[in-house]
Amino acid sequence: MVVDGRVARSSVVASQVELHAQYGGIVPEVASRQHLLNIIPVIEAALAEAEVTLDDIDAIAATRGPGLTGALLVGYSTGKALAYARGLPFLGVNHLEGHVYANWLVEGDEPRFPALCLVVSGGHTDFVLMEGHGDYRRIGGTRDDAAGEAFDKAGRLLGLGYPGGPAVSKLAATSGPSDLKLPRAWIHGTYDLSFSGLKTAVLHTVRAGEYDAGQIAWEFQEAVVDVLAGKTTRLARELEVAEVLVAGGVAANARLREELRARCPVPVRIPPAVYCTDNAAMIGAVAGHRLALGETSEFDEDVFSTNDWDNIDRR
Ligand code: KG4
Ligand code: ZN
Repeated sequence: MVVDGRVARSSVVASQVELHAQYGGIVPEVASRQHLLNIIPVIEAALAEAEVTLDDIDAIAATRGPGLTGALLVGYSTGKALAYARGLPFLGVNHLEGHVYANWLVEGDEPRFPALCLVVSGGHTDFVLMEGHGDYRRIGGTRDDAAGEAFDKAGRLLGLGYPGGPAVSKLAATSGPSDLKLPRAWIHGTYDLSFSGLKTAVLHTVRAGEYDAGQIAWEFQEAVVDVLAGKTTRLARELEVAEVLVAGGVAANARLREELRARCPVPVRIPPAVYCTDNAAMIGAVAGHRLALGETSEFDEDVFSTNDWDNIDRR
């Protein structure tokens, strides 16, 4: 439950981590079925925690995508049905735009434009220039694996559970620098990144058995953080942005937060970790801002799984 797109009065997340851990990753149909079981209790808990009832709600929003279609359909259909039954406006919100707007949930001054957004999640690693509300231009990003995906794959190679990000980061914290060096793909002259070579290097290092898992986790995390923080810093300087906004599950990574703050020439805004990984409050933050601009969605829109920052879907 979010007020004016800026204050999260409650944010309830029904984690499916334990359920999916037994399969080593997300099984789409299992995820959808679990959403179906969780959706009503989650809505009730979000209202209860915010100490409001549906009578106090002005509009209802749900994620439209990109994401797993079956899971999206559950939230989207429930949101539409509730809005229709209550005669309330409905807003279908882009998932990635939601990650960016988690930065509006932080107390204090609003983010300033132009902002450089670093969106690092399980499915995306994008550099996006944001010049106003809803105004985005993608200027680079990964050419292969997303940063979160790389963490998840490294975690699997190291025999850690799903999701790999928090597990790799926890293991890295038990270790430190060693003479193991893993590659950083800089792709000079572009704002693009690549993590597939790093993943392969982890595979070969694990197979060779010369280093312990802690040393590999440490150096892997350093390699990802070094490239992300290095490119972000260069971009922030070249584009002369007012701020850097960090978003997505990997923004919960403590080393990444530390390095971005240490290196960037402009203020770096990063939401608290609970608003970095997938959550409903960030969707409410977008909805509140769009509602203030008079934007709502039609009831005959479908969910979608593609993403195009330059033509972001705010229908
Ligand atoms: O944004 P998100 O919750 O879901 C997607 O939209 O993908 O991001 C999930 C990703 C996973 O790949 C997970 O391993 C990664 O974020 N992640 C982390 C950390 N916490 C979550 N990666 C590195 N360090 C973390 N502390
Ligand atoms: Zn996400």
